[in-house]
Amino acid sequence: MSVEQFRVDDKVAVVTGAASGIGRATAVVLSEAGARLVLADRDEYNLEQTLKMVDEAIAVPTDVSKQASVGKLIDEAVSHYGRVDVMANVAGIMDAGGPITSIDEAALDRILAVNLKGVFFGVQAALRVMGEQRSGSIINVASAAIDAAPAGLAGYSMTKAGVAILTRVAAAEGGPLGVRVNCVAPGFIVTPMTQRGARRDDGTVDDAKMQPLVDFMRKRSVLDKVGDPTDIANAILYLASDASQFMTGQTLRPNGGTAMPA
Ligand SMILES: NC(=O)c1ccc[n+]([C@@H]2O[C@H](COP(=O)([O-])OP(=O)(O)OC[C@H]3O[C@@H](n4cnc5c(N)ncnc54)[C@H](O)[C@@H]3O)[C@@H](O)[C@H]2O)c1
Repeated sequence: MSVEQFRVDDKVAVVTGAASGIGRATAVVLSEAGARLVLADRDEYNLEQTLKMVDEAIAVPTDVSKQASVGKLIDEAVSHYGRVDVMANVAGIMDAGGPITSIDEAALDRILAVNLKGVFFGVQAALRVMGEQRSGSIINVASAAIDAAPAGLAGYSMTKAGVAILTRVAAAEGGPLGVRVNCVAPGFIVTPMTQRGARRDDGTVDDAKMQPLVDFMRKRSVLDKVGDPTDIANAILYLASDASQFMTGQTLRPNGGTAMPA
């Protein structure tokens, strides 16, 4: 036993949502901890920017809402590196907002496709390869919304609750094969997703608009803090590493103490 167990030297890690926010921070932290990376996102321009921030990596443009696209992602990881040790399903969207009575079918279908089916496809493709290898760690990103039941976020919260239960079912199926499956449920993190409402037409963030939201979310934390993408990446690193070899089927909650379920 040593602190070296928190490193992921030479592990092959696939990260979806790697073009932005938490996914990008995850790629950087895993790279610093020694991983070889497969970066996936549908945003090809920003995926290339992340590629420049890490050491050994390939970028594979991917739409996680399409089963064939995720299958191709894992195939490319295996053909390039010969194996997949870590699958971080980070990609997600925060759409279909507003009261339940206002949500139309197309918006609901979109968020189910990316946040729920997208994670399912990632778990499925990774489990196939990791099951044959008899080892691997899958990490799914849910949200503090699974504990909070926030009004106006029915679609998003449903998908994240689905990710949490999928994690536990996949852990039950993966355990006998030597595959661990865990979930991270972040609290409020400042990323392009949460900055969306404060973005100007030219893409810059209007701080005067953003600050009230940050202050509101900060006050909900017993630490009087909002999170940074690296706070979540560090939790993902732990679950990716052998330091967490006795953890499976669990949800970690880096959320500043906004919710403390037993
Ligand atoms: N930011 C927060 O406060 C927060 C809190 C809890 C959970 N989360 C979750 O963390 C994850 C990352 O969020 P973020 O804040 O970094 O958001 P972000 O918008 O900064 O990044 C999300 C990334 O996912 C990608 N993506 C979206 N749809 C995709 C698709 N169909 N295929 C491939 N890539 C796709 C986007 O292009 C983007 O690069 C999401 O699952 C989100 O729900 C975020």
